Amino acid sequence: MSRDTGGAYQRAHRRSLEDPDGFWLEAAAAIDWVTAPTRALDASAAPLYRWFPDGTLNTCFNALDRHVAGGRGAQAAIVYDSPVTGTRRTLTYAELLNLTARFAGVLRGLGVGRGDRVVLYLPMVPEAVVAMLACARLGAVHSVVFGGFAAHELAVRIDDARPKVVVAASCGIEPTRTIAYKPLVDAALAQASHRPERVVVLQRPQLVAELTERDLDWDTAMATAEPTECVTVAATDPLYILYTSGTTGPPKGIVRDNGGHAVALRWSMENVYGVRPGEVSWTASDVGWVVGHSYIVYAPLFTGCTSVLYEGKPVGTPDAGAFWRVAAEHRTTMLFTAPTAFRAIRKEDPDGELRAGHDLSALRTLFLAGERLDPQTYRWAGDLLGIPVVDNWWQTETGWPIVADPMGLEPHPTKPGSPTLPVPGYDVRILDPQGAEVPPGVDGAVVLKLPMPPGTLTTLWGDDERYIASYLSAYPGYYLSGDGGRKDEDGYVYVMGRTDDVINVAGHRLSTGSMEEVLAAHPDVAECAVIGVADELKGQVPRGLVVLKAGVHREPAEVSAELVLRVRDTIGAVAGLRRVDVVPALPKTRSGKILRRTMRDIADGGHPEPPSTIEDPSVLDSLRPTLTGERTND
Ligand code: COA
Ligand code: AMP
Repeated sequence: MSRDTGGAYQRAHRRSLEDPDGFWLEAAAAIDWVTAPTRALDASAAPLYRWFPDGTLNTCFNALDRHVAGGRGAQAAIVYDSPVTGTRRTLTYAELLNLTARFAGVLRGLGVGRGDRVVLYLPMVPEAVVAMLACARLGAVHSVVFGGFAAHELAVRIDDARPKVVVAASCGIEPTRTIAYKPLVDAALAQASHRPERVVVLQRPQLVAELTERDLDWDTAMATAEPTECVTVAATDPLYILYTSGTTGPPKGIVRDNGGHAVALRWSMENVYGVRPGEVSWTASDVGWVVGHSYIVYAPLFTGCTSVLYEGKPVGTPDAGAFWRVAAEHRTTMLFTAPTAFRAIRKEDPDGELRAGHDLSALRTLFLAGERLDPQTYRWAGDLLGIPVVDNWWQTETGWPIVADPMGLEPHPTKPGSPTLPVPGYDVRILDPQGAEVPPGVDGAVVLKLPMPPGTLTTLWGDDERYIASYLSAYPGYYLSGDGGRKDEDGYVYVMGRTDDVINVAGHRLSTGSMEEVLAAHPDVAECAVIGVADELKGQVPRGLVVLKAGVHREPAEVSAELVLRVRDTIGAVAGLRRVDVVPALPKTRSGKILRRTMRDIADGGHPEPPSTIEDPSVLDSLRPTLTGERTND
């Protein structure tokens, strides 16, 4: 009784909403199950939904073992390309399986089993992939913490996830400096109240860390490790926790399951990204973010692709032609990154001269996500590469695109400023504050009608109530995305920006509320606000405004430097706070509510930069001992 109207996309989208069981059970056939599911959606605990409740599988088996068994053993699984260390290394599926099975043996030897948590604090090295998949192999739950976060943020995550083991590298490498990770891990463990039993340390030659009795050297452990078989888990068991910035309170531990995740990502790789088994994909992000989890690691490996793992920046390693060199050399069919990367390249090489001489004939599509894609960047990238540029909107919470141009299913005409159409599985609505749907062209809250498809978050780690309160209560029956936007007459979705205190700095998601907490804790600060202001390169950057306590008469520049340093020490360099202005008062309503929008409008109005901007915050590191009022992250 199918209504045969519309193209492949429309048919798929309609069916995914009208018959989610049929649609997703069919997609589930692309996954190897230990026990194949007979049902897709389980709504028995709504509004908490589960997928494939009677299915069992192993995620690592689907990423590695089955490909080796199926004849891909000699194919490259990971191509590690690291201009910051001058290293290149290819790991075939057979080699990656061998390393992963042995590292799973190491973790098992440390007592890690099904359901135990393991925190990973690793840069963009193949061992990060090995460690993630080794956890999956054991049915353990990994939680990767991005290397740009400071010790305090790591401690908060350790206390929430309560890992049995932490796996860390001795250092991370930024183009301008080497960041010692081990002291950050030690500081985090000193602050945390939870005590993991062991820390496995991957020693990198660029900076070798001192080990204590609690620490175990990666190479030493691997030398005698026995390979371990896959542990069968329920489709609904957690695969990972990924912390993300929330509006208020500590970071939210997004929980991803095994079965729904495998089905959705496998489906998305071909239908949304248009990449087929055996092809080479390159996602230039970081394994510490959701884009890295999904499209550097899991989706390409579930699909039997070769995934490029790039340790470097789009500019400065060595120049703004780095992306063209990598795409040409590895013959990547897709490149996926954040618009900021392209703005950074455009700034250094506006005429795209460095692209010349690189053979990009294999590159079919450029995907951009993580922040709003401004039409200027969209056009510049399209003109430079002469291939489709596909904006896609999603979040840590969903794990895969909500709105995109489904390139594998059916490409659509694009409209600059819009990530195109809701992906099958997602029922995107725009609501007014009363919960009524608004007509096309009118702005409102972007919400997703429940249930969301497989692969989306199942809850917040250990806190169903917070999940319901934060996401499912504002509009009963809908998931609140936190973004505002609209649809047009053709159903194209436009996402205009967050309606809460989350900002996107260079594609990195940060909470202004958590920066305010740090500023407010300074002994001289009476009140403060942190707002996101428009930035040509990073999309948005945070800016702090503080009012000093009565009787405090200090040099504003000195207080400002202290506050920038505090945020850097507590949250991390990635917060990108470089400017804090000391002001006589904050604009407020009569009832005392701070008028953030007014401040943002004033700030976006192009006021000249005052001297309180710290152009290079790393210089503050050396000034730390001389700055008064400075407290460490205690
Ligand atoms: N480990 C340690 N420090 C890190 C880090 C990491 N993994 N990633 C970033 N940092 C530090 C940077 O060194 C920088 O420190 P600084 O203040 O001392 O200069 C700070 O955090 C801010 O980093 P970032 O916002 O990335 O700015 P940048 O000037 O170093 O680089 C871009 C700007 C645009 C080149 C860079 O942000 C980029 O490549 N973005 C691509 C987007 C992306 O990958 N998004 C992820 C989601 S898809
Ligand atoms: P993250 O959880 O880090 O992926 O950040 C998710 C947030 O980034 C979303 O809620 C949006 O605010 C923003 N975002 C991501 N992709 C896009 C996009 N394509 N267009 C507009 N905003 C985006």
